[in-house]
Amino acid sequence: MSEQPIDACMEKIVSLCKRRGFVFQSSEIYGGFNGFWDYGPYGIALKRAVERQWWLYMVEKRNNVVGLDSSIICHPKVWKASGHVDRFGDIMCDCKKCKTRFRVDQMPDPTTCTNCGSKDLTPPREFNLMMKTYVGPVFDEEHIAYLRAETCQPIFLDFHSIRIATRMQLPFGIAQVGKAFRNEITPRMFTFRSREFSQMEMEFFCADEGSMEWFEYWRKERWNFYLNVLKFPTEKLHLHPHDKLAHYAKAAVDIEYEFPFGWGELEGIHHRGTWDMSQHQQFSEQDLQYLDQSNNTRYLPTVVETSVGLDRMVLAVLCNAYDEDRAPTQKEGMEDDVRVVLHFPATVAPVQVAFLPLSKKLNQNAQDLQEKFLGRYRTELDVTGNIGKRYRRQDEIGTPYCVTFDFDSLEDNAVTVRERDSMAQERIPIEGLRAYLDEKVLG
Ligand code: GAP
Repeated sequence: MSEQPIDACMEKIVSLCKRRGFVFQSSEIYGGFNGFWDYGPYGIALKRAVERQWWLYMVEKRNNVVGLDSSIICHPKVWKASGHVDRFGDIMCDCKKCKTRFRVDQMPDPTTCTNCGSKDLTPPREFNLMMKTYVGPVFDEEHIAYLRAETCQPIFLDFHSIRIATRMQLPFGIAQVGKAFRNEITPRMFTFRSREFSQMEMEFFCADEGSMEWFEYWRKERWNFYLNVLKFPTEKLHLHPHDKLAHYAKAAVDIEYEFPFGWGELEGIHHRGTWDMSQHQQFSEQDLQYLDQSNNTRYLPTVVETSVGLDRMVLAVLCNAYDEDRAPTQKEGMEDDVRVVLHFPATVAPVQVAFLPLSKKLNQNAQDLQEKFLGRYRTELDVTGNIGKRYRRQDEIGTPYCVTFDFDSLEDNAVTVRERDSMAQERIPIEGLRAYLDEKVLG
């Protein structure tokens, strides 16, 4: 199942991801399965760290947002109510000559095959993106269920249970991170558009009055997350307000990132009005109104949503971090070569501190030192190859600090800490290493 050609820089990132164990194609030994990806050891460390930063920022550092982890499969009526069963689709067509399938809205010229130039295309037809399965012993229409296409719908369903259990009052938000599934016609650009991916969504419930202020508030918060937490440069981000709004929405804006293949949507901030709650009220025949005790009125809450794909965010973090510099490498025992380096912020780096013994004879000493930091930082003991090669390997996986244990360490009880970006080296007493690294790594 072939991928479409992608930009040269993107190819380097994809190849680094495979070589260093960040991301692999799913089922590779069977030729791969398009739109599905596996995260290797560094990939999952990075993904979890990025997710952790989002959760900290959106839930744990606030009093007005709580969490949820709902099931992936919900009652099939949920997706009828949300409109996904009837309307969640793309228009596609196939090239009869080369058999490539396209989303019509992504074709520069919908009358011509983008792949081979043929004009012999099938008529455009609608294609629903929901992934189906069967629940129960009989595989018939009555037992069809759907893998969720977005993580937000169960949040609407659980709104009242959560409100009652937590005694939260409006305005407040509910956040969820979890898998979503879409039968994308053209999965592409590595993990950018996948068929199985994770979303990080937060639904903020409020009164309609003042909801636009909340929309503005969350737009700014999310923008600041990219600048202050992920350290993206402003020029790599832009805001794209939607020209066409859903009939129920008051406002919608995307935060876009400049990937090597062009600008792409990273996150959506949507004012969803009372649409979702009113749909579920109608389909479930339950009263989903909120009783506002401050003025004794009942109303359906208005919702402001922030929605981002975790995989897409991780891809942006990887692209933002990727760099090739012509480093003055002789001092590290290497030729003056091109250094491939991932400039991850220390908070999300898969390995935050690597421990490197200078000689095999010092392996145990370096390991003893590393073990003192297990669970405090993400660490690695790197013992193979000369020290220059080990620094290169750590640069390639984005390790911000390397701690080298050498023969002098046995005498002076100090180690050399080498910083990834500047390549500067500093001698630090082992006694003070924890305080030193805490400040650098934990901030
Ligand atoms: N609840 C609203 C919602 O799901 P969306 O624009 O369809 O809105 C939100 O998706 C985010 O989820 C996108 O901005 C993107 O980051 C991510 N996303 C959507 N489809 C994706 C896919 N096929 N692969 C990876 N990420 C995807």
